[in-house]
Amino acid sequence: MDNFEHNRESWNELTALHAESSFYDLEGFKKGKTSLNHIEIEELGDIKGKKLLHLQCHFGMDTLSLARQGAEVVGVDISDASIQKAREMSAELKIPAKFVRSNVYDIENVLNETFDIVYVSYGAINWLDDLDKWAKIISRYLKPNGTFYMVEFHPFRYMFNDQSEISYSYFKSKPYETVVDKSYTEESEISNKDLKHIEWHHSLSEVINSLITNGLKIEFFNEFPYQVYNCFPNLIEDEKGKWVSKKYGDKIPLMYSIKARKV
Ligand SMILES: C[S@@+](CC[C@H](N)C(=O)[O-])C[C@H]1O[C@@H](n2cnc3c(N)ncnc32)[C@H](O)[C@@H]1O
Repeated sequence: MDNFEHNRESWNELTALHAESSFYDLEGFKKGKTSLNHIEIEELGDIKGKKLLHLQCHFGMDTLSLARQGAEVVGVDISDASIQKAREMSAELKIPAKFVRSNVYDIENVLNETFDIVYVSYGAINWLDDLDKWAKIISRYLKPNGTFYMVEFHPFRYMFNDQSEISYSYFKSKPYETVVDKSYTEESEISNKDLKHIEWHHSLSEVINSLITNGLKIEFFNEFPYQVYNCFPNLIEDEKGKWVSKKYGDKIPLMYSIKARKV
């Protein structure tokens, strides 16, 4: 099995666990609560009437939240279970959306349109090995003058081990392989013991240069000393919804965002 097939298999298994977790709060979402955070809502601005492509949409909560804000959305994900769940929710909640199952890198085989906005968020690019190829896809799917927006976990935080010591390279390295025995949500014991995650670390220069090289003009780049999710070890809630490092407080970056325009 290749790396992406391992990830597809593990994300298939994780989807049902996530959909039932209090971390994702699907019940709250069904009652109308947005799954988006203040950062992406404010930084993305008005998306009413815009065609939006959400890459690596998981089971579609954020995609459908973007649709609730008035965007015409397409979500893409490699996981069969995620896309199935996303389609079910779209139908159940009567929120129009299109969901496509595909590896990001193979998306041209299944999607032939262009968009006003391409959107990527939290925990996405670590599943991709080649950011130049990724940025080419983003550029391909944007209309001229279209907007690319991403908000991600900061590569600085991926350097730490579970004891908050620097243990991994900041720079792009060989793929990291881990056995998937639990997830970042609370109720997350995995019964299938053969699952593997394969991930890649990407430095900020790698991300930014891949976008610039592929015809995107950076409009802003922001860094945040907190995370909006309690999904990594050794975080402590500083203010409501702002999780900082237990050891380093707000001295280190934990997330970043980028807005760019296709020129
Ligand atoms: C942490 S989740 C991203 C969650 C995202 N913030 C959201 O909107 O909910 C990572 C997602 O990436 C997907 N994924 C991993 N590798 C992929 C690939 N090569 N192509 C497409 N999707 C991929 C997984 O199936 C999973 O749903």
